[in-house]
Amino acid sequence: MSRADRDQRAYWDGLSQIDPDAAIIDPNDRRGLKNRYLAGMRDEAFRSSLCRHGLDDCVLLDLGCGTGSSTQPLLKAGYSVLGIDISLGLLRHAKVRCGDKHCLFIATDGSQLPIADATVDAAVVYVVLSYLVDDDRARALLESVRRSLKPNAPLIMIEQARTQRRTTEAGLKVQRSRPEWLALLSSAGFKVDSSHILRHGRFPTTPLIRAGWLPPRLWPHISRLEARIAAHTGVLPWDYAEILFEARA
Ligand SMILES: C[S@@+](CC[C@H](N)C(=O)[O-])C[C@H]1O[C@@H](n2cnc3c(N)ncnc32)[C@H](O)[C@@H]1O
Repeated sequence: MSRADRDQRAYWDGLSQIDPDAAIIDPNDRRGLKNRYLAGMRDEAFRSSLCRHGLDDCVLLDLGCGTGSSTQPLLKAGYSVLGIDISLGLLRHAKVRCGDKHCLFIATDGSQLPIADATVDAAVVYVVLSYLVDDDRARALLESVRRSLKPNAPLIMIEQARTQRRTTEAGLKVQRSRPEWLALLSSAGFKVDSSHILRHGRFPTTPLIRAGWLPPRLWPHISRLEARIAAHTGVLPWDYAEILFEARA
């Protein structure tokens, strides 16, 4: 395992000591409202993309599944899920959260995915490749995801982007530009069908949700509003954006 992977594993194993929902999105969100909102947006994006592809009751790869927060709703929707993550600490939470029916969790740095070629119906990814700062490593991981997918099977990936590439979190994370993400996917052999912004990192309603000023019944309307505004503005020069990439193996 490389030094970068060891640092990455230590970082996530450290976070696994805190609340499993806080660990994977925003560790400082003490009330957990912002994390619930973002997880809901992620889950809805995965659900509607899988529906658009006509996929139900099939085998999914949840790459970088962490504490199983994204895996659990997929299991409830009837999918079988293979969850892969670099952190054993986070995967322990995933096992407790999801049990062992229709799911399997494997700890790996992702360089060699323990999956036979052309066996998976779709892969979902939420902010994982942003933690592979080195483009060659990110490409190698995407290539092994592509090999595990059946021909033409979808990759549904949400990652963070900026107008200019920026490394954050003491060098552990990179926010690539949208063209860089698209080039990375193409160079790993994916055919990209679409990319659209789901939300901006500093959208004004997010701190209000976090403070409890906007009740959960309004959240679906707010997330639709975020996506609609983002479709017009594109990635803003002062903020990062979460982009949904849909590609095929
Ligand atoms: C922001 S968290 C997202 C977790 C999960 N996708 C979710 O939505 O709840 C990023 C995840 O990527 C995992 N990760 C980072 N580098 C990885 C690698 N090389 N291989 C597999 N997982 C990795 C981390 O351990 C962490 O669980």
